[in-house]
Amino acid sequence: MTGLTITPLGPSLGAEVSGVDLSKPLDAGVREEIARALGDHLALVFHDQSLTPSEYLRAASIFGPPMRQHYSQHNMPDFPDIGLVWHRNGQKPAERWHTDHTNRERPPAATVLYGVEIPSEGGGTSVASMRAAYQALTEAERVRLSGLKTVNRLDKGREGARPEDVEAYDKPILHPIVRTHALHGSKAVYFHISKTERIEGWSPEESQAYLEDLLQRMIRPEIVYHHAWRRGDVLVIDDRATLHRAHGDYDRSQARVLWRVIAEGDRPI
Ligand SMILES: [Fe+2]
Repeated sequence: MTGLTITPLGPSLGAEVSGVDLSKPLDAGVREEIARALGDHLALVFHDQSLTPSEYLRAASIFGPPMRQHYSQHNMPDFPDIGLVWHRNGQKPAERWHTDHTNRERPPAATVLYGVEIPSEGGGTSVASMRAAYQALTEAERVRLSGLKTVNRLDKGREGARPEDVEAYDKPILHPIVRTHALHGSKAVYFHISKTERIEGWSPEESQAYLEDLLQRMIRPEIVYHHAWRRGDVLVIDDRATLHRAHGDYDRSQARVLWRVIAEGDRPI
């Protein structure tokens, strides 16, 4: 018994984990139970956490080694594996559905977000189960998708990327559109529309039109968990089998500051 309580938050995905203080070192059994819970529930919420940057990095490593984020202008100066999600430093909320850093050979298993400053209303984060989305497709479309690969690069037209980040991370990386989860064994739809230059063998225009149409058909309220932030929340998103998006529906004179760590996963298969 590890003393953890895992309470599902919705019909398709999401669970609250209580009985754990992420600022403390956790034994291997607890870490493994949390990592498995992420594979089962795809989004985990820990409330009322109080973390220093190094405690946060240790907690995030439950899901894989923290990996360097490619818009380095947003990284925390003394802790460059923590990215600052903060609109006042030039970032726009990422309001399109996406999964993180698909332009890496071993993209993140998880995105870990910590709520440091939270606006009084709005500014939530939504997560959609691509495991449920895959299950809801027709057999014919599942077969069609299973033969497709995306060619991934840095987002086109992304403002402010540093030349060294473009040099390091804007190389074409191929991933299957149907991904098998390394822990859970189930299949999910896997792509990042604005990092997909094209589907292999298709034109960029055909690729964008098909992925846009697929998103429209896949995202339904019953496969979405919406997280309304409280200060001190840690939200862990399983990047192997979900898409997520930010909501910019908050008063921009108020601060919204999240710390972000991405934890390296397996090469998608
Ligand atoms: Fe993201």
